[in-house]
Amino acid sequence: MTVSLVFVYLFLNVVLTNAARINAPAKSYSFTPQDNFLFNCGASNSTTLPGKLIFLGDEQTRQYLSYNGPNIQVSIPPADLNVPSPIYLSAKIFESEATYNFNVTRPGWHWVRLHFAPIPNANRDLKIAKFKVKTSNNLVLIHEFTNEENKTWSFREYLINVTTEHFALAFEPAQGSVAFINAIEFVSAPDILINDVATAVFPKGDYSGLLNVAYQTVYRLDVGGPLITAENDTLGRTWDLDKPYLDPKAAGSDVSVEPNVITYPEGESPLIAPPVVYATATQMADANVLVPSFNVTWKMKIDTSFGYLIRLHFADIVSKSPNDLYFDVYINGKSAIKGLDLTTVAGGLSAAYYADFVVNSSMVTGLDPLTVQIGPMNENVGTKNALLNGLEVFKMNNSVGSLDGEFGFYGDKINGDNEAKGTVAAVGFAMMFGAFVGLGAMAVKWRKRPQDWQKTKSFSSWLLPLHAGDTSFMSNSKTNLGSKRSQFFSSTMGLGRYFSLAELQEATKNWDPSQIIGVGGFGNVYLGEIDDGTKVAVKRGNPQSEQGINEFQTEIQMLSKLRHRHLVSLIGYCDENSEMILVYEYMSNGPFRDHLYGKNLPPLSWSKRLEICIGAARGLHYLHTGSAQGIIHRDVKTTNILLDDNFVAKMADFGLSKDAPTTEQTHVSTAVKGSFGYLDPEYFRKQQLTDKSDVYSFGVVLFETLCARPAINPALPREQVNLAEWALQWKRQGMLEKIMDEKLVGDINPESMKKFAEAAEKCLAEYGVDRPAMGDVLWNLEYALQLQEASSKGKSEEENKVDESSAAVWVDVDLNKESSGSDNKASSGPEVGKRDDEVVAIDEHSGTAMFAQFASLNGR
Ligand SMILES: *[C@@H]1O[C@H](CO)[C@@H](O)[C@H](O)[C@H]1NC(C)=O
Ligand SMILES: *[C@@H]1O[C@H](CO)[C@@H](O)[C@H](O)[C@H]1NC(C)=O
Ligand SMILES: *[C@@H]1O[C@H](CO)[C@@H](O)[C@H](O)[C@H]1NC(C)=O
Ligand SMILES: *[C@@H]1O[C@H](CO)[C@@H](O)[C@H](O)[C@H]1NC(C)=O
Ligand SMILES: *[C@@H]1O[C@H](CO)[C@@H](O)[C@H](O)[C@H]1NC(C)=O
Ligand SMILES: *[C@@H]1O[C@H](CO)[C@@H](O)[C@H](O)[C@H]1NC(C)=O
Ligand SMILES: *[C@@H]1O[C@H](CO)[C@@H](O)[C@H](O)[C@H]1NC(C)=O
Ligand SMILES: *[C@@H]1O[C@H](CO)[C@@H](O)[C@H](O)[C@H]1NC(C)=O
Repeated sequence: MTVSLVFVYLFLNVVLTNAARINAPAKSYSFTPQDNFLFNCGASNSTTLPGKLIFLGDEQTRQYLSYNGPNIQVSIPPADLNVPSPIYLSAKIFESEATYNFNVTRPGWHWVRLHFAPIPNANRDLKIAKFKVKTSNNLVLIHEFTNEENKTWSFREYLINVTTEHFALAFEPAQGSVAFINAIEFVSAPDILINDVATAVFPKGDYSGLLNVAYQTVYRLDVGGPLITAENDTLGRTWDLDKPYLDPKAAGSDVSVEPNVITYPEGESPLIAPPVVYATATQMADANVLVPSFNVTWKMKIDTSFGYLIRLHFADIVSKSPNDLYFDVYINGKSAIKGLDLTTVAGGLSAAYYADFVVNSSMVTGLDPLTVQIGPMNENVGTKNALLNGLEVFKMNNSVGSLDGEFGFYGDKINGDNEAKGTVAAVGFAMMFGAFVGLGAMAVKWRKRPQDWQKTKSFSSWLLPLHAGDTSFMSNSKTNLGSKRSQFFSSTMGLGRYFSLAELQEATKNWDPSQIIGVGGFGNVYLGEIDDGTKVAVKRGNPQSEQGINEFQTEIQMLSKLRHRHLVSLIGYCDENSEMILVYEYMSNGPFRDHLYGKNLPPLSWSKRLEICIGAARGLHYLHTGSAQGIIHRDVKTTNILLDDNFVAKMADFGLSKDAPTTEQTHVSTAVKGSFGYLDPEYFRKQQLTDKSDVYSFGVVLFETLCARPAINPALPREQVNLAEWALQWKRQGMLEKIMDEKLVGDINPESMKKFAEAAEKCLAEYGVDRPAMGDVLWNLEYALQLQEASSKGKSEEENKVDESSAAVWVDVDLNKESSGSDNKASSGPEVGKRDDEVVAIDEHSGTAMFAQFASLNGR
């Protein structure tokens, strides 16, 4: 599986100066929130928690609630549910939208904490409740609550700058479901918690506007210390253990001091983090005994489609004397702080210090989305050690004001699409095959499409507009919709056959897991057998997923336009019961990648690999030029090149495809999607999609073919991780054979390889304009195949002492075949020049170029 790489933009907020600050012990650091609403929903009476926090029961909070549905309160005796607090023992259930309204006495930062426990009850199964939580300042806190991990309880904490006099929280059940809530906190937080400005470390630059962002706490770790519960934090925060994230655990050892030795420099406050957090830390285990230098690493899963604010807390509780400890801090492998000298920045030993970083959405790294590392500075100064006392990770809302998913308050969506062609950007789909580049924060363009979230596109609703112009459909609109659709599709769209759900159930042995041949965000792909035993690949979408519906739509639309020997063909589909099922031809030999590495399949010969690349190139060339508008695949990679019984290559998965720019435009602006390792750097920089982005990805495919290794292999030394970079280096030194697949040694003709590598290099040109069109690439590959076939034929003939000129003659023959353009029969010879009937705009250009080249080859 490819790995999500993430580009980090770090913003260091350092106030380095002022070594002579006055450090004062934390005397009083109480904070009295002006707004302090604590609701124990579903409880008839108030509940008092340790720390004298009083959560009001429903009777006392009725005035805050607007809700017209039936009043459903459920509760459970403490002995029957293992929860950390009595507030989880009761819940309020809403059958329609419910809103809690708060009068805000003091504008500014507020905590919003939502506590959920799907307690068992006779009314509703809360474990399957699906609902949305929005705020009156147009934020989406929860796009779709689902109790995925079957937790008995959970809570979510948000930090929101409320600038209005009123604030409301809305709970909206999804169609046919209910919403529930066990407890709500809406509480003022001190202004000093968030600074507006931070400084970027990578790439250098300023980041400001942090006061206008809403945050969700994702991780808050008391590094090296015990769990700190809400009652022991002045701001009601919970600080978790860091150990689950420390990797490897042996790299760190815990150290602690008495909390009362911690001091706070002027301008810092115990409200940022209490002394108990700073009084414990994780430092390098045996820093001076083991290997001289290593990093201590924390790895945390994040949703890479969001940006994050990362706050690191430090206090030097290990040094014996000032200015003796210097260490480096990295976030996702990028230097965040170089040579941090805590006694200077914090003004002394055991003094509290924190630094903020903004991580711009997705980042580049190895296996884990977010890593924080500390390690000794690589110089012989001071003690070799490093430490971290606390770590907070806050998710930042995306451009449509959401903290969960890609849909905004109005159901609008982060979406680079700036034209309403009906092609919906396929956001989120990349998850289907591993790597996902969800540069949410970079996708700055979105269309405001006000709509009720419950009315967002469903499979059926998007189908209907398609029907609208079809009179035969309209005239029968009262009859069975499903069968009408099928008629419509098969007759008008050429989308092939309509399958009934029962038929597909049977074909897949009732969705037997053993039939699964692919898994992804969209759903599973099953091997099925229809009719007379014809094998098919059945892709079954998850009907709940709105993203999936868009994918489905995109894919159907794309496929309906496309028919080609080198594109995987759609046999039919099923939309019964809101299912989204597509039936494709079964590609028995699976992804090209599996035949290159990782699966121990017999190695493919160089000729075979070339033929496969040529097939894929033809498919892509057709996509780019074959339809009136042209289509950009957007996710070209070796797992999307599938092989049939005869190892004929076909491009698969157009879920990410986009119509190419029309002639007036030169590019399509869009959210960056694709797979890491294959991603066009120009597309990434400019967010402008052209067919040359596919050419870039294809260049990576070519090197993968030659070197038989993944596009990204994080296990390798740094300079080797990215295949494109690595191979280009060797190509430029003219020593590609050093990194080529060993299995090709003796088989590959050096001239053929040279031609091939040149093509690959050109594809990987920094700028799209410098990259060849797919037709040119195709031609180069065909030429490389000619060279290979000529040499191997030459070789064997030499061995057999046959006329040496036959190679040239043979090329000539094929050339004639090409120019006549009529012979499409599978010949025993190479596939060069083979024409695909279906191809519309292909080969005009490449055919000519090929002719010229073959002529010169002939003349040698
Ligand atoms: C609610 O609790 C208070 C004390 O916390 C108690 O005096 C009162 O009787 C309770 N009311 C009911 C209805 O249980
Ligand atoms: C909020 O304030 C308004 C006046 O601005 C008042 O009418 C209303 O009753 C208050 N609501 C609550 C729940 O205190
Ligand atoms: C909240 O946001 C507003 C602008 O939207 C800003 O002026 C204000 O300073 C922020 N409040 C705090 C406490 O950061
Ligand atoms: C959660 O529980 C349901 C049944 O209650 C089960 O089907 C599902 O697999 C469970 N999910 C996880 C992640 O444990
Ligand atoms: C909270 O702090 C008190 C002492 O101030 C301590 O006795 C108690 O155990 C702490 N509770 C938790 C849950 O950490
Ligand atoms: C620590 O991690 C950083 C970034 O991942 C890396 O550049 C550095 O070489 C590592 N240091 C050691 C000593 O391994
Ligand atoms: C991410 O980077 C882009 C381009 O540098 C910038 O426009 C955007 O504001 C950044 N977003 C965040 C959340 O840092
Ligand atoms: C967060 O949402 C607000 C709207 O509520 C928007 O103005 C702001 O730009 C968003 N922040 C980011 C980083 O996109």
